[in-house]
Amino acid sequence: MLQRPRRNRKSEVIRQMVQETHVSAANLIFPLFIVEGENQKSEVASMPGIYRYSIDNLLREVESCMSLGLKAFDLFPNISEELKDKYATESHREEGLYLRAIREVKKHFPEACVITDVAMDPYSSDGHDGIVENGHILNDETLDILGKMSLAQAQAGADIIAPSDMMDGRVGYIRNVLDNNGFTNVSIMSYSAKYASAFYGPFRDALNSAPKFGDKKTYQMNPANQREALIESRLDEAEGADFLMVKPALAYLDVIKLIKDDTELPVAAYNVSGEYAMLKAAVQKGWLNEQRAVTEVLTSIRRAGATAILTYHAKEVLENKWI
Ligand code: PBG
Repeated sequence: MLQRPRRNRKSEVIRQMVQETHVSAANLIFPLFIVEGENQKSEVASMPGIYRYSIDNLLREVESCMSLGLKAFDLFPNISEELKDKYATESHREEGLYLRAIREVKKHFPEACVITDVAMDPYSSDGHDGIVENGHILNDETLDILGKMSLAQAQAGADIIAPSDMMDGRVGYIRNVLDNNGFTNVSIMSYSAKYASAFYGPFRDALNSAPKFGDKKTYQMNPANQREALIESRLDEAEGADFLMVKPALAYLDVIKLIKDDTELPVAAYNVSGEYAMLKAAVQKGWLNEQRAVTEVLTSIRRAGATAILTYHAKEVLENKWI
């Protein structure tokens, strides 16, 4: 035998020498849930180890992440039911929970990278990402609200605006609003290929943001489709996105690879709540080795072509020195 591939696996030093893919703190984005109040820290039942923080505790959490070298955060608000309405007006109210949280994080940690979510669902009395009229989700009318939300977030100090709503044309619309108001330096990370996935369930528990009727299949993509991800991603790139995103990550590694090979832009992948929940549940049952499973998941997402990974595992992998 001339070729014996096992020779390159014979010792830890050689295995590390030939390792093709690495995950480091710089690649990770930590999603954080925010709730109104003081000194609040409530665990999300379906996401062990993940909490909703009031702003004071959010600042403590950000500080402890920063000391571990984890410096990029994606913030999501849990809005109380009585503040929700048809037009998600709470999303751009200056004294609203979300905008206050952004301002506070940027005030205390100017060097942190704050990524903000643009979509109506946490603030919508219908629990949808767009305006609902007679059971239909209106596209163009929703853009106006997404624009207001994006501008308010930029004014509050957001570094990267991340539209997760899947309305057509929203990246170009938001880019225009930002530029016309002097925010040419605020980036857009677009949820380009976002699928209508079963794996968002725990996130909707965290924010109490599940749709009040129907599902999101008229705007989020059909999990059966790959080529459609190219249409979405190319449009977002043409409309001015700085990052493209694939979501979820694990069941869509082929899509990450496809988009990576089709663009020069950095590709982000969202290792979503249901993927986290599955792994944690199996670990709690003693069915998986946590360190090995988590590092394998993150490495696989990087190997598929993701530059950045949004993951609820971000802090624990650094705290435990798993990467
Ligand atoms: C909503 C949004 C969702 C997630 C991020 N932004 C859920 C949804 O589309 O219903 C899911 C994230 C996760 O599951 O971790 N705009």
